[in-house]
Amino acid sequence: MTIQKIYIVGSGQMGSGIAQVAIQAGYQVTISDVQESFVEKAKANIKKKLARLVEKGKLTKEDQETSVARLTTSINLNDAKDADLVIEAIVENEKIKGEVFQKLDEICKEEAILASNTSSISITQIAANTKRPDKVIGMHFFNPVPVMKLLEITRGLSTSDKTLKIAEEVGQKVGKVTIVSKDSPGFIVNRLLDPMLNEAVYLLDEGVATVDDIDKGMIYGCNHPMGPLALTDLIGLDVLLAVMEVLYQEYGDPKYRPCPLLRRMVKAGKLGKKSGEGFYKYD
Ligand SMILES: NC(=O)c1ccc[n+]([C@@H]2O[C@H](COP(=O)([O-])OP(=O)(O)OC[C@H]3O[C@@H](n4cnc5c(N)ncnc54)[C@H](O)[C@@H]3O)[C@@H](O)[C@H]2O)c1
Repeated sequence: MTIQKIYIVGSGQMGSGIAQVAIQAGYQVTISDVQESFVEKAKANIKKKLARLVEKGKLTKEDQETSVARLTTSINLNDAKDADLVIEAIVENEKIKGEVFQKLDEICKEEAILASNTSSISITQIAANTKRPDKVIGMHFFNPVPVMKLLEITRGLSTSDKTLKIAEEVGQKVGKVTIVSKDSPGFIVNRLLDPMLNEAVYLLDEGVATVDDIDKGMIYGCNHPMGPLALTDLIGLDVLLAVMEVLYQEYGDPKYRPCPLLRRMVKAGKLGKKSGEGFYKYD
């Protein structure tokens, strides 16, 4: 099957980034959310990002216009009925994702592939909400999607070779390097990265060092492009907490225990860049 129409569920940081790279690659894309104002904001952001690429000479005016023309919005999941591929990028919550996949399975055509951008939830578990587990797959993009080159693909227990091949083709068409992981908590990248970010929050919570010095330590000592606390702000503290909860629950190893400061900051609504404050303040 050739993928032409992509329906994206969730128009937050990740959903809008995936929509942008997909329209630029020539796909017909519908981006959806629970409220009209959310999808309108996402569309306006995508247009702004494309306009900036034109200003920088990285995109032609013509390509900008044809890309924008490929984007539509929706607040009704039934609009996914003629999609070839659905990519879900909603809140990192197993129950809510499960409900969405159950509905998508009823709405979407038989041959449609249902992908999740989950950072940590089991693809096999998500697929169990459908009658097409062979066509359910993890397509884990990285933030910000237009900049980060990786697509981590996860095979659930029943994901078919055909579904994997299509996900790899889509990834390559949107300009990503693809890697494949078995369905294991945290997959490859978050299993390595997130315990390090969580440990940085422990350093801060224990008063070992300041935000500035923790970040400088990894920038200048390990050549990381940004410090772990700034990266956590970019990812979203709620997203990191959700991943750590899954790692801790699945492996039962105390090394994955989410830092209490991370929990407190999420409770206080300090989610990072998207809420205006995390370890740093944002305009
Ligand atoms: N933030 C990151 O760096 C990052 C990186 C890779 C993967 N992810 C994963 O991507 C997913 C989304 O993360 P995000 O950072 O874009 O979150 P976000 O909070 O920016 O966006 C989530 C969006 O989903 C919408 N939503 C919630 N429930 C919905 C529903 N039932 N139907 C339709 N829309 C719904 C919300 O209104 C919101 O606009 C999560 O699974 C997360 O783990 C995030």
